[in-house]
Amino acid sequence: MTLMQWIDEKYGTNVDVCDNQHKELFDRVNALNDAVTNGDRANIGNRLDNLIDFVVVHFETEERMMEERGYIGLDAHREEHDRLVQTCTDLQDKFHSGETDIEEGTMNFIKNWLDNHIPVIDKSYGPALSN
Ligand SMILES: [Fe+2]
Ligand SMILES: [Fe+2]
Repeated sequence: MTLMQWIDEKYGTNVDVCDNQHKELFDRVNALNDAVTNGDRANIGNRLDNLIDFVVVHFETEERMMEERGYIGLDAHREEHDRLVQTCTDLQDKFHSGETDIEEGTMNFIKNWLDNHIPVIDKSYGPALSN
């Protein structure tokens, strides 16, 4: 099932590199969501790792671009990223040690995070990073 669907007006930042990475993130979220629906734990683990790997790559890309442009909102933005990476790392550890499972609630958390971050926090860098 498609959990994250790209809508240009909603998610578009006007920065091609970031939009393309956000689309890739959505694909990986949807792949994880499919794995959760199917319930194969090994597959869920692979998709989870695959998603988190790219989250890290994406955050590094955004932060590097903001740094290069001397973007004023960098510190606050980085804090949001750091918090999510910490949450993801904890989740990853707990999943792989068998302490927790990835469930619908986890997927909703991921969806809500992206829905609150991209259209507000990411979109704000559009004017500074797009030219
Ligand atoms: Fe961001
Ligand atoms: Fe982003």
